[in-house]
Amino acid sequence: MQNITTTIKKLFYLWRRSQVPVKQPTKISRIDNLIIFLVCILISIISSYKLLLISPLNIADIYSWLLSFIEILISSVVLILVSKKENPTISSRQIFLIVTLLLAVQVTKLALSSTISPLSIIIPPALIISQGMGSITALTWVSIASFSWPDPAVAINNNLFFILLVCSSVVSLLGGRIRSRAQLLQLSIFVPIGSFLSQWILIGEDKISPFNTQNLVLANRDVYSDSLLLAIVMLFTILFIPIFESIFELLTKARLLELADKEKPLIRRLSLEAPGTFEHTLLICGLAEEATRMIGGDIDLIKTGALYHDVGKLHAPNWFIENQDGSKNPHDELDDPLKSAEVLQAHVDEGLRFARKNRLPKLIANFIPEHQGTLKMGYFFQKAKEKNLDIDEYYFRYKGPIPQSKETAILMLADGCEAALRAMSINASDKEALATISNIIYSRQKDGQLDDSNLSKGEIFLIKRAFLNVWKRIRHRRIQYPTSKNNTFS
Ligand SMILES: [Fe+2]
Ligand SMILES: [Fe+2]
Repeated sequence: MQNITTTIKKLFYLWRRSQVPVKQPTKISRIDNLIIFLVCILISIISSYKLLLISPLNIADIYSWLLSFIEILISSVVLILVSKKENPTISSRQIFLIVTLLLAVQVTKLALSSTISPLSIIIPPALIISQGMGSITALTWVSIASFSWPDPAVAINNNLFFILLVCSSVVSLLGGRIRSRAQLLQLSIFVPIGSFLSQWILIGEDKISPFNTQNLVLANRDVYSDSLLLAIVMLFTILFIPIFESIFELLTKARLLELADKEKPLIRRLSLEAPGTFEHTLLICGLAEEATRMIGGDIDLIKTGALYHDVGKLHAPNWFIENQDGSKNPHDELDDPLKSAEVLQAHVDEGLRFARKNRLPKLIANFIPEHQGTLKMGYFFQKAKEKNLDIDEYYFRYKGPIPQSKETAILMLADGCEAALRAMSINASDKEALATISNIIYSRQKDGQLDDSNLSKGEIFLIKRAFLNVWKRIRHRRIQYPTSKNNTFS
């Protein structure tokens, strides 16, 4: 009996955990909600109005139109809810993209369904959605776009419909995982080849006639023109994906990996003008990546975010201890804790300015203020207190916001632990290293910095273990290997 109770309690706990959003959902303004709703109404009208063009019109026809209208409207709302569930931080612009693509597809079906293959109408938008919003949203979009045809007179060949569903599902599933433009290119070649072979086998070379004519690419509609058109439209889609990325702030895997390239001008500048900060950044990347892998977060996102988190230090590299190289500390010469605190806050403000100037996506720019949260600049606050007892702590705290996602929270913890771990003696034991890590993380927790991040106790435990593993690796690298005097190169 006790076992059953424990199991029920565990299941209840797991269910409750699954209801906690991974990231704080983005608030969408009323006007944006209204515009999106109007687009959904427009989709429903376009997808169903032809049912009203029958003459003579009777009650049964009006009833079937109403059903169809409501069905499409509900489907569009479900699509938006699924996209919000898969991407809690989705912006109104991105939702607008999803519904507008659905609207465009329905209009294209009305205008060109007798001349263009359904494959070329549905698969390319599915690629854009899967790249920007993930596979589940893309699959939902594909199912709505495939099942609702605005013109009831159009009868689709069953085999072609099956091929359409398979190809678009493959694109939706693979599109969300693709990590480079080269893989995108491969997909845009292999999917048309696959559709060509399947159409050839299932439908036959000359018998494809879901619609009457097809003059768009080659001669009359055939498998060659269908697949060639699909390949061309997909290649054009790939060419336009970077434009979609910048207009709709889509953060594809390929874009993330491009931004993580250390030859990017901003990162190159960091390595040349602030080498200490660059080294600190690389070590943080290692800590954050390991911890994110442990808790199953977005590794590509945190790697790229970590790389840019301190770019703001470029505004005055020598004011930060890691770049001082034993030379004079400008803060000592300034001897004004309040001004020093302003310089520290400026690395966040300037970082955001660099992010805007370099058009960094919002999800990456978020790492810049959130890695500091509202942490206290303890050293300068203490100095200020020595000078003036009445000074307000407010002036010695970063402006925030505190981390809003698990990834930015991990970066804050890695940022806090990096210097302490680097400074530890190589003779320090694992227990000592773990105690240092735990103290730093506990102080962040106590200060309320992790309140909005949704990190669970279990995840914080895993993050500590991950940091310890990286520390062990660093220690291993720092141990000098004994070398023989006669054979130093072996
Ligand atoms: Fe920082
Ligand atoms: Fe940092």
